[in-house]
Amino acid sequence: MKVPKRLQPLVDDGLVDEVLYQLMSGKEAQVYVVRCANQLRCAKVFKEAQKRSFKQAVEYQEGRKVRNSRRARAMSRKTKYGQKEQEDAWLNAEVDALYRLAAAGVRVPEPFGFVDGVLLMELVADSNGEAAPRLDDVTLTPEQARDYHGKVIADVVRMLCAGLVHGDLSEFNVLVDPEGPVIIDLPQAVNAAGNNNAERMFQRDVDNMRRYFGRFAPDLLETDYAGEIWALYESGRLHPDSKLTGHFVRDEGIADVNEVMEVIAAATEEERERLERQQDAEED
Ligand SMILES: Nc1ncnc2c1ncn2[C@@H]1O[C@H](COP(=O)(O)OP(=O)(O)O)[C@@H](O)[C@H]1O
Ligand SMILES: [Mg+2]
Repeated sequence: MKVPKRLQPLVDDGLVDEVLYQLMSGKEAQVYVVRCANQLRCAKVFKEAQKRSFKQAVEYQEGRKVRNSRRARAMSRKTKYGQKEQEDAWLNAEVDALYRLAAAGVRVPEPFGFVDGVLLMELVADSNGEAAPRLDDVTLTPEQARDYHGKVIADVVRMLCAGLVHGDLSEFNVLVDPEGPVIIDLPQAVNAAGNNNAERMFQRDVDNMRRYFGRFAPDLLETDYAGEIWALYESGRLHPDSKLTGHFVRDEGIADVNEVMEVIAAATEEERERLERQQDAEED
């Protein structure tokens, strides 16, 4: 195909030899299949900031480490330079996450660098060498659903052990290749320890996976991996090979105390009324 404008610098630099075709466009980016020497790769071209939708929302930004304090100060100002820095940090987040997760043993596409706002990465392919389908595109047997769910949960645990929460995990952001699920689309990944929304996002990610795989294996709908994993994480006991049960008893201590207080108040009130009635009867 004709080389898209944003990919031209990579072609000029010899990083990309040929642009083959465009994959279905997602919310935040255009993704192309390209040839680099004798390898097929993916080129993810991020839309410009003002064309992106929701993921750059404040909840994702909190706790992101900006290494250089001059940059950090600039980002916090509404200057043009500040906005440019913020934009670059956002784009770099996905590359950073991919390197970090690949090192932690999570199945993600292998990154090959980030040039001129374009992320070059491994093409996750099906058995014909074509771009692999997303979970949303496939139908699973109950056994496959349980197997894939287990693999995604294991990856989510490795991710959390590496300090990251995906933040937008769904059947649209997990591909399926012959070896199973591969997690993609990470520009919004959040820092598990430094972001107050991390627990809620983690819960949502894991719930999305339960709901999706639960369509094919309804027994999964009864599990609570999110609660179990987060409790282990918070108490410093989560390891990539932690044995999980899928069951978790939520600590409802506070709610129980309130309930007991209410019961006590109601009983006190009842007793007061009883005494009043007794007194009234005695006076009559
Ligand atoms: N490494 C990859 N290998 C194969 N297909 C990919 C790869 N990365 C992205 N895609 C395809 O491109 C689509 C959009 O990519 P994604 O990273 O999810 O960006 P968006 O933010 O636009 O959703 C995905 O749904 C998937 O079908
Ligand atoms: Mg996506």
